[in-house]
Amino acid sequence: MNVHGKPTRTLWVEHDEVWIIDQTRLPHEFHTVRLLDVEGAAHAIRAMQVRGAPLIGATAAHGVALAMAADPSDRSLDEASTLLASTRPTAINLRWAIDRVRTALAPLPPGERAAASLALACAICDEDVAINQGLARHGLPLLREAWERKGRGAPVQVLTHCNAGWLATVDWGTALAPIYAAHDAGIPVHVWVDETRPRNQGASLTAWELGHHGVPHTLIVDNAGGHLMQHGRVDLCIVGTDRTTARGDVANKIGTYLKALAAHDNQIPFHVALPSPSLDVTLRDGLREIPIEERDEHEVTHLSGLLPSGQIASIRVAPASTRAVNHGFDVTPARLITSLITERGCCPASEQGLRTLFPERFERLP
Ligand code: MRU
Repeated sequence: MNVHGKPTRTLWVEHDEVWIIDQTRLPHEFHTVRLLDVEGAAHAIRAMQVRGAPLIGATAAHGVALAMAADPSDRSLDEASTLLASTRPTAINLRWAIDRVRTALAPLPPGERAAASLALACAICDEDVAINQGLARHGLPLLREAWERKGRGAPVQVLTHCNAGWLATVDWGTALAPIYAAHDAGIPVHVWVDETRPRNQGASLTAWELGHHGVPHTLIVDNAGGHLMQHGRVDLCIVGTDRTTARGDVANKIGTYLKALAAHDNQIPFHVALPSPSLDVTLRDGLREIPIEERDEHEVTHLSGLLPSGQIASIRVAPASTRAVNHGFDVTPARLITSLITERGCCPASEQGLRTLFPERFERLP
């Protein structure tokens, strides 16, 4: 993506230094942060300076590499893996990336681990970009068909939840990748952006990056999607996923399930952009088996934003004595999902569909 006219990734390595964008300060400030060590990488994930399933996986891989640069011993590898894996529980990409780096490093002599882990972390970042380009390629026809159904006139109206865009990945995004591809191909697209309480990733991040790419969009409150669907103002929904099970159940940002229900009730296609590292074939029943992150109640009782003074601040919206509960994700059952958009093509949200596209993932199961 271009930021201020310059192609930029959300995580990059410059002279062996690892840099990220501090997403907690967007859209008000574009501030970059250097990850100095594995603790810094873990903090960036936990504090959501980086977030989005693919990006936290990529950051964790670099976290292991930073640990290996400081101390390439077995103990350091174990400790780094444990620390990073404890940061956020729902997105499988985190564990996937840590396991991948760990498996590659374990047989190597300590002297080779720093260089090998840095190379692998960079490869994971490059692979993420290639995967997302695949999602763009395979998701684009869905938008083209919707435009053709509308007589190639009015813009295709897409609803998305949270931020599954460039900022949630190393580049391009997952759910937003087909939207960028359609926009770049001259298909008129308009995006309804769910604000996505409590942290407002839609309002602060999705709106920001769509604006930078010139994609027309309108911000809506989380409760508005059903109303828009009832009035024929949504042609299709595309969302991301933090973990998708073998039978196609999808964990994604809290509120995704309600959008899927509303889409189902209004016969509106509901697509999930699924990069293969977000697929967890070891689980089947998403509702019972996917661990759901519970976050601090402060995110619900308070709002963060820009004061007229130009300062970013947090303000309380609930009474001081009111307690809140803050589940970060929910699970949308496969039956509510029209299709999974993957880098190998689209498939039904079912075990059969996923087995057809990713047979090797199922063969490796014990
Ligand atoms: O809590 P977040 O901001 O990390 O949640 C992000 C999402 O729910 C995304 O939709 C998901 O990670 C898919 S990102 C391509």
